[in-house]
Amino acid sequence: MAGKTTWYRFFLGVRQQHTNAMYSYVDDILYNNPQIEKFVEIGTGGGAFSVILGLHAVQRGSHLLTYDIQIRGHKPKVDSVFDKLGVEFVEEDVFENVKNIQKHMDGKPTFFFCDGGDKRKELEVFAPLLPSGSVIAVHDYGDEILPEDVRKHTVGWTPILEDFWTDTTVELYTCFLLKP
Ligand SMILES: C[S@@+](CC[C@H](N)C(=O)[O-])C[C@H]1O[C@@H](n2cnc3c(N)ncnc32)[C@H](O)[C@@H]1O
Repeated sequence: MAGKTTWYRFFLGVRQQHTNAMYSYVDDILYNNPQIEKFVEIGTGGGAFSVILGLHAVQRGSHLLTYDIQIRGHKPKVDSVFDKLGVEFVEEDVFENVKNIQKHMDGKPTFFFCDGGDKRKELEVFAPLLPSGSVIAVHDYGDEILPEDVRKHTVGWTPILEDFWTDTTVELYTCFLLKP
């Protein structure tokens, strides 16, 4: 019940599809990984988390590249903020854009957030393509992405904050791993 009351909140008037915990944990991870230069998100949704990633990207001299096919009609409602942050929102199937994503990453360490419609496929397709020093984050851990999927596609990677991935008092519901 505690989870239900705290899950849905708003940020900039947009209903979050993640919890506030994500903001501070991602902040910590980025602070501890100053090598990260690029930012990619699969699943823009309403755009609340994109704004956070967009801010980090600007701080590191880049911009966020984010994809959504909008199958559930969740159009980003933060256009003016996206414009100011230079967020590149592409309304296309992410799997049709593998080459564009590689071009954006440009061989640089990337924070790569998987929150689209098929987390297993996102991990399978993109984990091998991420440059060394990248961090992958996969949302809905324990539900849409299982521990065995993560283990299979990230052999040799270093888990980050693993104690919190399924901690229901934290409500992170996300796994994070650093590519060697
Ligand atoms: C859970 S929502 C994203 C929520 C958002 N990351 C947030 O935290 O606010 C998942 C989104 O993935 C999008 N999606 C599903 N399959 C996709 C695909 N193949 N390419 C791009 N976006 C996709 C859906 O349209 C949906 O809006």
